[in-house]
Amino acid sequence: MHILLIGAGGREHALAWKLAQSPTLTRLSAAPGNPGIAQHATIIDVDTNDFAAVAQFCTDTAVGLVVVGPEAPLVAGLADVLRAAGIAVFGPSAAAAMLEGSKGFVKALCAAHAIPTAAFARHDDADSAIADLSRFGLPVVIKADGLAAGKGVIIATDAAEAVAAVRDMFDGSFGAAGTSIVIEEFMVGEEVSLFALCDGKTILPFGSAQDHKRVGDGDTGPNTGGMGAYSPAPCLTGELEAAAMENIIRPTVAAMAAAGSPYVGVLYAGLMLTAEGPKLVEYNCRFGDPECQVLLPRYRGDLAALLLAAATGRLDACDAPFSDDSAITIVMAAKGYPAAPAKGGAIRLPDAVPAHCQIFHAGTAQAGGALVANGGRVLNIGAQAADLASAQAAAYALVERVDFADGFYRKDIGWRGVK
Ligand code: AMP
Ligand code: GLY
Repeated sequence: MHILLIGAGGREHALAWKLAQSPTLTRLSAAPGNPGIAQHATIIDVDTNDFAAVAQFCTDTAVGLVVVGPEAPLVAGLADVLRAAGIAVFGPSAAAAMLEGSKGFVKALCAAHAIPTAAFARHDDADSAIADLSRFGLPVVIKADGLAAGKGVIIATDAAEAVAAVRDMFDGSFGAAGTSIVIEEFMVGEEVSLFALCDGKTILPFGSAQDHKRVGDGDTGPNTGGMGAYSPAPCLTGELEAAAMENIIRPTVAAMAAAGSPYVGVLYAGLMLTAEGPKLVEYNCRFGDPECQVLLPRYRGDLAALLLAAATGRLDACDAPFSDDSAITIVMAAKGYPAAPAKGGAIRLPDAVPAHCQIFHAGTAQAGGALVANGGRVLNIGAQAADLASAQAAAYALVERVDFADGFYRKDIGWRGVK
């Protein structure tokens, strides 16, 4: 089977690496790609924002499956255009991607189907939102409704900050994403990520992970896309995972199917393990980045066959075998990330990588035969071992061997899981 992979980050390098090991894969193409993805795939010259051109490439080259990595093309309807052209896609339609594309949509769905989540209110103007703030207590969570690259969430610790956040959002600081906002009760607990593959009706659990969103050691400093992750999440016991599947993911997938927008792809649930049980923080309509980089090394099956089964409504015949190992990934970012990452920093990678370790490229580029930084998060250094502490030691040993003077990384990825 010829697969086309859409995306250009560390998540997509991990997908390319795993797909390349699949017996059912005969050819792998990718766009836009990156130098790491290019080790496993042919990078094609097709504008991924031009959905018709992507479909044309698929028809011309007998692509049997398109795997879409990031959320933006899904929310914009890439999967719809491809399906209309008869091409199998791993990834939800625009209507189903609303689970990530609109926070208000998700909260309304939770309310309609008694799915546990934070109490909330949706507002379309600043004055009504501000008048409503006080009943949520403090801290209070204020979210732009639409996609805001992970930056549209403000946790205000006092009333003045909450009012300022509301005004900011309606003043356009998050663009169109902020024309509607959601106010939420602040939930207390440990956060975990739970993944499930879906084919529209069947749900296949696909592992758990925890990430580190803050830029600095000890979970300090500004939020990022994620500075590292590990899998499985030790705090998500089998019992809690079963509760989340039963009370959160299953009713969501059923509701999407009943509404005529069946969910196909990977559903990524951000959960808060509260004193009352798991509650939904948010959904994403794709694999996490860098969570994907710790899930896939633990998956022991044929990924190409599995994603095709999800794309074609045949997940009921599948299982998802995972190794019992722990996996970790350390993000190496460019100095200045997340505000203003330095571009162009020289990178020298070790000639050989030990067994059970990987270096995935996130934001890299080739410049005159040399590898340079080309983004905020630049490399993902991963390792797997029988326990998380050993995986952590192996990953940091490999980080030490990467020569990236303009880069930095957190020294404590995995601390919560090791503890
Ligand atoms: P989101 O983009 O919705 O995942 O929000 C980003 C981060 O904000 C989450 O990972 C949580 O750490 C935090 N957060 C969001 N909503 C809540 C909430 N209702 N209570 C506590 N923390 C939250
Ligand atoms: N690492 C968080 C995300 O992918 O949304």
